[in-house]
Amino acid sequence: MNKEVGSYPQSWYPILRSKELKKNKSRVIKAFDKELLIFRDANEQVGIVGRYCCHMGVDLGNAPVVNNCIQCPLHGWQFDRKGNCLHIPSLKSNDKNILKKRSLNSFPCQEKYGVIWIYWGKKPAYDIPLPPDMDAITVGPCSHFSLTTEFHMPCLNTFDLQHFHHVHHRKIIGIPDISQENLYHMGIKMEVEVIPLTLFDRLMKRLFHGNATISIDCWGASLLLMNNNKTNYGAIIGSLPIEKYKCLMFIIPVKKQSAQQTQMTQIMDNICLKIAEKMVRSFLSMDEIPMRGMKPFSGCLVNELDDAAANYWRYFNSLPRFSVIHSAQKKDE
Ligand code: FES
Ligand SMILES: [Fe+2]
Repeated sequence: MNKEVGSYPQSWYPILRSKELKKNKSRVIKAFDKELLIFRDANEQVGIVGRYCCHMGVDLGNAPVVNNCIQCPLHGWQFDRKGNCLHIPSLKSNDKNILKKRSLNSFPCQEKYGVIWIYWGKKPAYDIPLPPDMDAITVGPCSHFSLTTEFHMPCLNTFDLQHFHHVHHRKIIGIPDISQENLYHMGIKMEVEVIPLTLFDRLMKRLFHGNATISIDCWGASLLLMNNNKTNYGAIIGSLPIEKYKCLMFIIPVKKQSAQQTQMTQIMDNICLKIAEKMVRSFLSMDEIPMRGMKPFSGCLVNELDDAAANYWRYFNSLPRFSVIHSAQKKDE
């Protein structure tokens, strides 16, 4: 019996930039220690299913999209975006009872902010939120880069207050406000002073006119939504686990939407969002080397110094997990 391993927190994860998947095309994506097939049908709708056919295990990686379904190259069975088998060519009639027993694993997904998102779980427990204190946003182009670390380390990093000074040259003023509203969400709000050692930081310092208040929401252990309350610029940062110690980070620069949108404000927004993306990328790149292969364990944290990180650690451990059972096993149960 082929029980698949891999258990990850139930959450939304970015999986592919929208522009990287054309109509009637499919792509194999390595994620969650497995290979998934993502395809876009003729109506621009996206589906994410298991890579191997539930009949005889044929690789659907190069399968065509026909009638809005992925069509297996061996016997021509067709599966829709939800993994349902809609057509078996050699069946005399499309007997619903036979069809409904045959399905591919499928995953909830949606497109938002120029990115395709997968929900790791059967049914989304929350919707992809907006950054804190933003009711409507303008988004810039998404970029991504890989990190040699566990996918949830960037979230832990956000609550690791000691590293802000050492790695990012940010001095935290006072005591950050940490909140947890529900099982899937932790937030932190802190006042920071920039110590201007790099070009970007000198620019930051000018933009802030003093200290900045940064609000960051963490959802699942895969999503960080941040807002610089002084500039009203921020970012949505998502992390996709590829395999152990490997993840793909997506950065979507965002700005609180202006009340009045003119052609000129749109041009300015586009320029500023591109700069914002570079700034966020530069900030995160400082974590790349320290986080490489990082292996924290709960006993390593120091009381008082690491209280926020300990909070995150408890939150992370209590997140509901999801793991996939192979279609072949589901049929036999
Ligand atoms: S192996 Fe895919 S339809 Fe038979
Ligand atoms: Fe960091």
